[in-house]
Amino acid sequence: MASRGGFSSRIGFIAAAAGSAVGLGNIWRFPYEAGENGGGAFLLVYILCILLIGFPVMVGEIAIGRSTKRDAFGAYYVLGGWKWSLVGLWGILSAIMFLSVYNVVAGWAFVYFIQSIDGSLLNIKNFGDHFSNQISDVTDLFFYSMGFMVITGLIVAGGIQKGIEKAAKILMPALFILLIELILYSLTLDNALVGVKYYLIPKFEDINLKTIYSALGQAFFSLSLGMAALITYGSYISKKENIVGAAAIVTAADTAIAFLAGLLIFPLVFSQGVSPSEGPGLVFVVLPSIFASMGTIGMYVGAAFFLLLCFAALTSTISLLEIPVTFLVDEKGYSRKKMVLFFSVLIFAVGIPSMLSQGAVDSLTSFAYYEGKTKAVFDVVFDIFSDIGLPLGGFLMSLFISTHWKLTNFHTELAVGNPRYPGSFVQKFLSFVITFFAPLFLGIMFVTTVLHKFFGITLI
Ligand code: TRP
Repeated sequence: MASRGGFSSRIGFIAAAAGSAVGLGNIWRFPYEAGENGGGAFLLVYILCILLIGFPVMVGEIAIGRSTKRDAFGAYYVLGGWKWSLVGLWGILSAIMFLSVYNVVAGWAFVYFIQSIDGSLLNIKNFGDHFSNQISDVTDLFFYSMGFMVITGLIVAGGIQKGIEKAAKILMPALFILLIELILYSLTLDNALVGVKYYLIPKFEDINLKTIYSALGQAFFSLSLGMAALITYGSYISKKENIVGAAAIVTAADTAIAFLAGLLIFPLVFSQGVSPSEGPGLVFVVLPSIFASMGTIGMYVGAAFFLLLCFAALTSTISLLEIPVTFLVDEKGYSRKKMVLFFSVLIFAVGIPSMLSQGAVDSLTSFAYYEGKTKAVFDVVFDIFSDIGLPLGGFLMSLFISTHWKLTNFHTELAVGNPRYPGSFVQKFLSFVITFFAPLFLGIMFVTTVLHKFFGITLI
């Protein structure tokens, strides 16, 4: 399979994996999840989930990918036969469903970018109303989400090195710098410190089942885990690389960006007297109002911010589209370009009900009733394929490694490119998590989350 291509360098892989990880999950979703789940309490549980579960699962996925050099389905098939290959298929299905909704949110970011450049965003009186009107405006959404999918498709069609690597290497550092500058500005505002305290000081009484499953779901969402994205990327990295080291850098970078996004948003939330549990609109409501308050310069800052948000989303949509594309290219030998076209159209179409479920069509907006409230199709898809489905993918992966592929093979793969690995602390830690902690904790969380979310039953 010489024509498969691969990452040109260690930095190429890290940039692309970090690009996949850093996305709307960090800047849009993390702050609102934290705001809905107690601020500091959420941050604490989130960081524990990252260290104890997220990082080991990431290492596991990359190792499976690199040892087989196949797509998600093929990798499980080669190592575990057809039964385990279903786990790979589940990952591919999740990627398709997840991207169909993710692309809708990317469309929102795109609209806000355009409205920042043309200045219209600065003249808005009530940003809350503006947001709800915007996400129910079918024409805009259709156009911008489709635009986003087209751009994603064009880059993925370019192949691994030319497209994905190049984009990620330039855009990620720019995002980081802009975030830091905005944080410094937001910290100077009145009441900013109340926000910082809310965010950094955990109130332990706020920790409950919902905090835990939300933080766990967010950790998987943000690190791009549980849907075989990193099996796919791992299949493109060289045997010379140190997987544990690369995963540590990606995890740290992703967590740092999410942390910074919180540090930007909460001072703004409190200085503007907005409720931190505003939900998915949080970032789209508080940020534009701060840009507006800056005067003319706010227009440039706002445009830069939403542009980078679009870029962050783009490196993620690229990684998501790559999953089903690599699958059929590897397994069936179809042409990459044809598969890109096929999946972009399919995924866009699958996303239409979610797109229309934010106020445009009533029956889709109050589509299902659980967790004590009605849910839009948009939320149902994210519940199933993100909060529940991704940790489930991680659970199945850890079972696969411990019961089928076996720890010795897993460790052997990790020692390739990392001579100091055998006998190290990390090795012991990974053995413990993969064979014991991850299956137990993720198994319990799966059951309790399903019971809680869909049946309103709280066991713990
Ligand atoms: N991690 C991305 C974000 O935070 C979302 C994402 C991209 C993703 N690729 C993924 C999530 C693969 C799970 C699996 O925005």
